[in-house]
Amino acid sequence: MPLNIIVGVQWGDEGKGRIVDYLAAGADYAARYNGGDNAGHTVTVGSKIFKLHLVPSGIVHPHTIGVLGNGMVVNPHTLLAEMSGLRGAGVSIAPQRLHISPAAHLITPAHRALDKAQERSLGKGLLGTTGRGIGPAYTDKAARRGLRMADLLAPDFRDRLRDHLLAANRILNLLGAPGLEVDSEIETYLNQTSRLALYIHDVSGELHLAMQQGQIILAEGAQGTLLDIDHGTYPFVTSSTTLAPAALTGLGLGMAAAREASVLGVTKAFQTRVGSGPFPTEVQGEMAERLRGTGANPWDEFGTTTGRPRRVGWLDGVLLRYAVRVNGLTELVITKLDILSGIPKLQLCTGYTVNSTLIRDLPGGADGLSACTPVYEELPGWTEDVTHVRKWKNLPKNAQKYLEKISSLAETPIKLVSLGPEREQILEV
Ligand code: IMP
Repeated sequence: MPLNIIVGVQWGDEGKGRIVDYLAAGADYAARYNGGDNAGHTVTVGSKIFKLHLVPSGIVHPHTIGVLGNGMVVNPHTLLAEMSGLRGAGVSIAPQRLHISPAAHLITPAHRALDKAQERSLGKGLLGTTGRGIGPAYTDKAARRGLRMADLLAPDFRDRLRDHLLAANRILNLLGAPGLEVDSEIETYLNQTSRLALYIHDVSGELHLAMQQGQIILAEGAQGTLLDIDHGTYPFVTSSTTLAPAALTGLGLGMAAAREASVLGVTKAFQTRVGSGPFPTEVQGEMAERLRGTGANPWDEFGTTTGRPRRVGWLDGVLLRYAVRVNGLTELVITKLDILSGIPKLQLCTGYTVNSTLIRDLPGGADGLSACTPVYEELPGWTEDVTHVRKWKNLPKNAQKYLEKISSLAETPIKLVSLGPEREQILEV
């Protein structure tokens, strides 16, 4: 398909980065359409591990063009650091192969300071944000006072930046947080942003043309379905639209592109979440430690962006079915199946009870979750190491049954299964 949209089916961290990396081998463009440096995508190529927050993961392939769409919020400091890290690792990053929409919004030091101060002011009711200024940047966007990439080129950018920082200082003051050193912040910020001006590009026009010419676009969603501002577990969500349809608006593609799209939903073989909010299938104790890992490996369940231990649990089939519906998923990708090897009995959530009534689908949206108690189906596990398996027929029978059950619950075929962190540890079903 000319447009392949990859979305997370859970609360983010599903392993999208490496799936994008795998699929980008056959794509011309790798494009991000939402979020900012709250995302953290780990890509392993040979002995090198790349941690990417803003640059699309697919850019590690030399033939792709990376795109940052208008739906994103961009922190220049993070972006420049990432660009230089990638260059140091031998990945070519130049204006010819990294294009940023003029309508993408800028994250400033004020947004980060406000994010942290607002979280502190919430006390125990905090949202557990990544502290990257995402909420305040999208707030400014919605209030129509945000700074955009295109503004970098405007003669009054310095003045607008000053006004923005002064306004933020007034709010920080109200929240009892220290203000920003406006003059020094302005100089640092202008120095950073001036290095990005060459990367501004008409992304929407370029991608439209590319599709007409039969080129392949990989649209890389950040966060996950359940963190979507409208359809996620509000208010414990991020501030952007994370769902697949946002790839169209967040890149400036029209509805016509949807006719030529495949929508791949990536889910771990179990469930994880960072930050606050409901999580019906969460487990504690030994099983949690087993699923999470110790943190010794880069793929253990500790946040790529914040390092926080992730909450872990059994795969939630009700939320999976919900994600299929709200994204319009055409296929599934299951990641981290290898982590389940050696667990004697697996639990798969196939429904909930709410007020003693059994349900298979969420009655309202995902925000009614806290009232739901999971109903599990127990499936036998497998003991074999599956990290070397590349063919379906070589998977242990119980692993096949587990995957078949997931597919039938979701009423969606499985396209890929990942069985380890390396690029080649993927099985095509
Ligand atoms: P924010 O996006 O930093 O405002 O954080 C809002 C919520 O989304 C918090 O619970 C974060 O932990 C979560 N979140 C944001 N980005 C990611 C991500 O890329 N992976 C997992 N959770 C995320």
